Amino acid sequence: MIDLNNLILDNKTKNQTGSFNKSGNDKKVYIETYGCQMNYSDTEIVLSVLSKSGYNETTDINNADAILLNTCSIRENAEKKIFYRLDALKYFKRRNPNLVVGILGCMAERLRKDLIENKKIVDIIVGPDEYRKVPELIDKVFETGEKGIAVKLSKVETYDDIVPVRREGVSAWITIMRGCDKFCTYCVVPFTRGRERSRKLSSIVDEAKRLYDEGVKDIWLLGQNVNSYRYDNYDFSDLLKTVAIAVPEMRVRYTTSHPYDLNMKLLETMAEYDNICKYIHLPIQSGSDRILKLMNREYSVEDYMKVMLKAREMMPDVGLSTDIISGFPTETEEDHQMTLNVIKEVMYDYAYMFTYSRRPNTKAFRMEDDIPNETKTRRLDEIIELQREMSYESHKKLIGKKIKVLLETVSKKSENNLMGRTDCNKSVIIPAISKNSYVDNSGDLISGKEYNIGDYVNVKINKCNSATLFGETEE
Ligand code: 5AD
Ligand code: SF4
Repeated sequence: MIDLNNLILDNKTKNQTGSFNKSGNDKKVYIETYGCQMNYSDTEIVLSVLSKSGYNETTDINNADAILLNTCSIRENAEKKIFYRLDALKYFKRRNPNLVVGILGCMAERLRKDLIENKKIVDIIVGPDEYRKVPELIDKVFETGEKGIAVKLSKVETYDDIVPVRREGVSAWITIMRGCDKFCTYCVVPFTRGRERSRKLSSIVDEAKRLYDEGVKDIWLLGQNVNSYRYDNYDFSDLLKTVAIAVPEMRVRYTTSHPYDLNMKLLETMAEYDNICKYIHLPIQSGSDRILKLMNREYSVEDYMKVMLKAREMMPDVGLSTDIISGFPTETEEDHQMTLNVIKEVMYDYAYMFTYSRRPNTKAFRMEDDIPNETKTRRLDEIIELQREMSYESHKKLIGKKIKVLLETVSKKSENNLMGRTDCNKSVIIPAISKNSYVDNSGDLISGKEYNIGDYVNVKINKCNSATLFGETEE
């Protein structure tokens, strides 16, 4: 599951620009999103549901009538962050006693009544399958002061009929399935997000086409476990192929996948269609078969390596990334070495790396969390350092090469540069104007070419570090 930056992104959704229905309600809602891309995608659903009830989104917390935190439970630290944030929100509640504060997402599901009973500041608690109820619960607090909880998990809810309120930008997410049935022994997701269920294939394809018409250039098919997608007789490969054909000008990506469900059919489909990005995020978690067994991962290192080798054989430029947990109960130095060996052998382009966090309700919770924190952290540091070397090596190989890049944003470090991504998901920084451009004293471009977000450009890579490639166009 990516913290699809995992892709665990810890940003707030401050750049969200929803188009809200403004009729009948002058209340403003501010949402902060934590955790994985699924949460970011869910926030777009919540914004859509709210807009139907006339709520307006605000990106200014000082203006908000309701503040919602869309939360993550995956590790203890993710939850701690929310508790700190709730403490900080007391200031806003003191200033405006009518302010509604809500907890959405995995923490709502996991902690339920505890949160409402023990955190006085919290007014509403809404789990991932009950987002349709967010407006009525907020209304009720405004009208009667009554706090509300909605945390039932559903076997069928996919929010298939809801058109998410999108962020601006060239990329968009389409959630294709929800929940997880894998029950890895360390993971809370099956408990916080419930059973797997997939959206209708035709509605996913319609959404992709609509996004294309709206100017989106890059879509991510999202799910806790996308490759266990199943709708009628269609599997994930069928869906990916159908989407790729329906929007041939769009880049199509997916995340996150489980090695157990990654089959030849999927690799063949990826190799066949130019617009399916050659990028696979395939969490290995550990390089030791003994630990994988304890984690209930249902594959061996050998099985995993076979998939990776096959992927590289069929798509030589494929980008590979993974998730790794260090310090799972009973992990020995030998187990840890095996993880380091896999990192060396696969030479991942990127990895999301974590120390093990013991989560209530999970099977591993019953195991003794016997690896001291210093050992977990030291092993994690070794993993991070090795992965940094691997990323650098994989980047160095691209120096001197020409690569097609889709420009996504202005560079964080300089507004004279743009950041784009390669098909295999590497970040590339280029100057916003072409090499031989001439700009006069007032900053006007007299000759040469200026690039825009959303452009595809051919970039010659001339420099790199372990995180980023740098290059220039040759126009
Ligand atoms: N402790 C540490 N990392 C975890 N992950 C999931 N649960 C835990 C946990 N209890 C990691 C896994 C997963 C990623 C999204 O988060 O690596 O793939
Ligand atoms: Fe991913 Fe396993 Fe958690 Fe499911 S249970 S979300 S497969 S880590």
